[in-house]
Amino acid sequence: EAIELGGYEDFMLKEIHEQPAALQATLAGRLDAGGRVDLSELGLDLSGIERVVIVACGTAYHAGLLGKSALERLARVPVEVAVASEYRYGDPVGDEGTLVVAISQSGETTDTLAAIEAARAFGARVLAVTNTQGSLITREADAVLLTKAGPEVGVAATKTFLTQVAALYLLALGVAGVRGARPAGELEEIGRALRRSPEKVEEGIELLGERLMSEAVGVFAGARCALFLGRGQSFPVALEGALKLKEISYLPAEGYPAGEMKHGPIALVDEQCPVVAILGEGTLREKTLSNVEETVARGARVIAVANEGDAAAERIAQSVLPVPTVPEILSPLVSAVPLQFLAYHVAKARGLDVDKPRNLAKSVTVE
Ligand code: G6P
Repeated sequence: EAIELGGYEDFMLKEIHEQPAALQATLAGRLDAGGRVDLSELGLDLSGIERVVIVACGTAYHAGLLGKSALERLARVPVEVAVASEYRYGDPVGDEGTLVVAISQSGETTDTLAAIEAARAFGARVLAVTNTQGSLITREADAVLLTKAGPEVGVAATKTFLTQVAALYLLALGVAGVRGARPAGELEEIGRALRRSPEKVEEGIELLGERLMSEAVGVFAGARCALFLGRGQSFPVALEGALKLKEISYLPAEGYPAGEMKHGPIALVDEQCPVVAILGEGTLREKTLSNVEETVARGARVIAVANEGDAAAERIAQSVLPVPTVPEILSPLVSAVPLQFLAYHVAKARGLDVDKPRNLAKSVTVE
């Protein structure tokens, strides 16, 4: 095991650091230097898609939410995202124009496989996004988009999440291209930025020095819960950040759309319930900032995930976890990473086993 850990204390930490390479491998051969996407390996006619349904569980579900936003924005195709355990019993509606995208790291999750079966009943075509060649899901699907993260040992998914998100961006760019939903030049520009995302993630990892992480962990001293807030694409990132934290630190954590916070979660806010704000960019950043200000007025201590040099974030937060600047649509790839580190270090500070959290399994093959 020591050899496999390659000098890292835990698999989770190692796998967080492997993310640039995992992304690189997932994008290789599918995205050329000009930013053009080639998904001919799928053998699917992407032009006939009228609607997309994404089914998944856990972290893969959060990747699915990000996939929805990319597909809708870039390809202008309507997307529904469903938790597989609900979808399978929901008597789902659809037809042959529906593409079901089933996301599963292991490719063995029972509920996700059952969701595929439910969609088959109405004639859907099925694309599997998985990290495991030869897994059950690859046999159930019409086409497979393999993420190439390499084996993930830590129960809390990290590198497989980032590669799922990247795979969904590829799909969104691919579908957008054949549908002519956006000017080719615009799609290629995003494609070129996506190609550079492994370097950006690496840069982001380097920005998070020990001092910044220990500052952030300090905000969690005495915490009894946490509230993760974001808008737009930063909302699924907030959900994933909260999930990581509860999985390995056992602290109750909620991920919430920042604008919805006033309809309930704000009641949780006090000095012992830190707010983790994923600020993002553009107009939504301003909106999130003003929501976070409301929590500060109620005594919250704040950790902000923000672009390097964001003065407003510095002013409002006890701790800022900086991310490198990337085009807004790709921001989840960089903003998810500090939250993985945060969950990791909070759990370590609490003396917990981050690789094998209690009650959880890496792959859930029972209902
Ligand atoms: C388990 C794991 C999660 C994972 C989920 C879905 O709950 O602990 O990390 O996100 O299953 O797994 P899958 O293999 O389908 O992506």
